[in-house]
Amino acid sequence: MKTIIRGGTVVNADRAFRADVLCEADKIIAVAENLDVPNGAKIIDAGGQYVMPGGIDPHTHMNLPFMGTVTQDDFYTGTAAGLAGGTTTIIDFVIPAPKQNLIEAYQQWREWAKKSAGDYTFHVAITWWDDTVQRDMGILVRDHGVNSFKHFMAYKNAIMADDETLVKSFRRCLELGAMPTVHAENGELVYQLQQDLLKRGLTGPSSHPLSRPPEVEAEAANRAIAIANVMHTPIYIVHVSCAESLEAITRARAHGQRVYGEALAGHLLIDDSVYQSDDLEFAAGHVMSPPFRSKHHQKALWHGLRGGNLHTTATDHCTFCAEQKAMGKDDFTKIPNGCGGVEDRMSVIWDEGVNSGMLTPSEFVKVTSTNAAQIFNMYPRKGLIAPGADADVVVWDPEGTRTISALTQFAKGGFNVFEGRTVRGIPSTTLSAGNVVFHRGVLMAVEGAGRYINRPAFSTTSAR
Ligand code: URP
Ligand code: ZN
Ligand code: ZN
Ligand code: ZN
Repeated sequence: MKTIIRGGTVVNADRAFRADVLCEADKIIAVAENLDVPNGAKIIDAGGQYVMPGGIDPHTHMNLPFMGTVTQDDFYTGTAAGLAGGTTTIIDFVIPAPKQNLIEAYQQWREWAKKSAGDYTFHVAITWWDDTVQRDMGILVRDHGVNSFKHFMAYKNAIMADDETLVKSFRRCLELGAMPTVHAENGELVYQLQQDLLKRGLTGPSSHPLSRPPEVEAEAANRAIAIANVMHTPIYIVHVSCAESLEAITRARAHGQRVYGEALAGHLLIDDSVYQSDDLEFAAGHVMSPPFRSKHHQKALWHGLRGGNLHTTATDHCTFCAEQKAMGKDDFTKIPNGCGGVEDRMSVIWDEGVNSGMLTPSEFVKVTSTNAAQIFNMYPRKGLIAPGADADVVVWDPEGTRTISALTQFAKGGFNVFEGRTVRGIPSTTLSAGNVVFHRGVLMAVEGAGRYINRPAFSTTSAR
């Protein structure tokens, strides 16, 4: 089956140019002006539109058991929602329980992910340490296409990695040619601040940001960067939310350290006033970690993205419904942490970033797709419109508009942090592995059609 996307402007990270794009089976086979239409090919008219590599969301949690419950979106509904928004690949997280065997946890997540409608791959979290963990990291890299490991510096008494685990795991990552990543928040400080707030009777969701101020994030970001420096590893910091963490990244990069930073669509667009709402269900709906910050921090994140000190945009898609959020109605520390966004990331970043002139279309492609493909070793299979790349393509209508609402979204959870926002710039068509899976508002996602993407290790000499 051949599909030709005609008359659009192809946007890659390095340039934009007029070209038709011909796909056969699951690959792009030609990119050039005025291509002949092969007999029987499906024709997609991209006149007046951009043709871009499908989005890569490097941070999602589908089907995640977390804080005593399980997220609303499973791998089917979550990846399908992504396709509707122009995201064709997700990197999700295998999160072993403390003392759980890594391979067993990995196999469990592979099983859950079989129903994915779009392509997927996994970071594996290192939540504890012993010789079997050291061994199994090697098995995951060599035999299972995992090249990145996640470390939660927060969530004390649950999945938090202590300094011993960070140091030993980073050293192992270097040996294996894998990328260490961190959720940077000082878990001990968070825990103590939470206890102080609860003792003072401050039990509502407005206490959530007070228990996780920017300093708590910055301490952990600085510590992780220092450990990576001593261990000679690169490091990727997930969901950078504040100016102070960005400063740590910027400083380290200026000193020649290979540090990468991820910004969430939510942190870029939503500020901390949401926690002051009298509507406690609304406030709890926004409880995620790190919390939303003030406009000062949002501005810094946009500058980080434009200036090249933040590299990727993600969502941390982790949906809980109102009943689940109500588990913490008498104690904010029990509100399941997480918000959605996989369906909206591309549009809100285009609307706020490109329409404002903050980002060029090529910079948009860089921070929504190409950089993630390169940092996590899927490039040029993903993140590029060129012959030989996967036919994961989004035809982007820069004049199309959509008003975001939980009532009309494909994602589950019944809540949307971008509720009511009208965005200009939407996918008109999404192709995943050569198949049209979304066209003009109609989702044609197929359960189980997504593929597991192997990500080989980096060369262990270039990782230094
Ligand atoms: O609040 C969040 N971010 N929930 C998901 C788990 C994590 O920390 O990434
Ligand atoms: Zn996190
Ligand atoms: Zn500040
Ligand atoms: Zn997360």
